[in-house]
Amino acid sequence: TRKIIIDTDPGIDDAAALAVALNDPQLDVLMLSTVAGNVNLSYTTENAKKILDFFAKDIPIAQGNRAPLLVEYEDASEIHGETGLNGYQFPVSKRVVLREHAVIAMKNKILQSAEKVTLVAIGPLTNLALLLNMYPEVKTKIAELIIMGGSTAGGNTNSAAEFNFKVDPHAAQIVLQSGVPLTIFGLNVTSRARLKLQDINQIKTFGRTGAMLYDLFSHYRGGDFAAGLMIHDLCTIVYLLQPELFTLQYTHVEVATTGPAAGTLIADLQNRYCKSANANLAVDIAAAEFADWVKAKFSELT
Ligand code: BDR
Ligand code: CA
Repeated sequence: TRKIIIDTDPGIDDAAALAVALNDPQLDVLMLSTVAGNVNLSYTTENAKKILDFFAKDIPIAQGNRAPLLVEYEDASEIHGETGLNGYQFPVSKRVVLREHAVIAMKNKILQSAEKVTLVAIGPLTNLALLLNMYPEVKTKIAELIIMGGSTAGGNTNSAAEFNFKVDPHAAQIVLQSGVPLTIFGLNVTSRARLKLQDINQIKTFGRTGAMLYDLFSHYRGGDFAAGLMIHDLCTIVYLLQPELFTLQYTHVEVATTGPAAGTLIADLQNRYCKSANANLAVDIAAAEFADWVKAKFSELT
């Protein structure tokens, strides 16, 4: 089993990623941390608690940062709904979050772990940037930091920037320059990680988890599945369990932090700048196999 910590902003595709990660015996989820992203921190924390309740998982959860490092916070509630998980009526959670800020809780978990820990970041990188800057001693204990963010093929907030990097560009740049082993799934790959309408209709019939995911999916982007449903964040977890579905290229990456292109990933895939590589960047996905694998996985969840 692999020890992992997931930093998340649920978020509908976050919920799909958590559903798989929390239930796979190959992954030992040490804790969840929450960040402001798709919706504000109160909502992302409540949502993460509800997902842990849904799967009856006794896993610690810590609240992270309420706002990006330097820029003003802007949410994506127009895509994920006002609460971030509109579409399914989760019971109110009585779960209590850790007293420590997520950055402190992550530092403690990583330093206490006998094995190296894999970090999975599926929201803005605010907490991870703080962790790596405040506690650089964790770096040697990080097996890999797997990120959903960026794009080499156009953005989803404007023509260039992907949402997670755009929300906190400075945090993204700090993390990319941190020297920890990075694996990055950007929109160029995650926007091809789609479920088709017929897949989604099948998922509805897969018991209580399938029904819950179906209800969430039906509200994602107003429930418009015509072009299929993109489950960006799930790529990070599928990569952990089924890496051969992806092609990665070890390359130099950075993020623009200011100006109209703030939050845009720059990837030197042709090695024109001759700078040293600092990330494994996903460049291809076996999209049909991905959808089949995900459907099979969802059908196993109770
Ligand atoms: C990313 O932004 C969020 O809306 C999704 O949850 C995903 O993490 C996609 O750009
Ligand atoms: Ca997310």
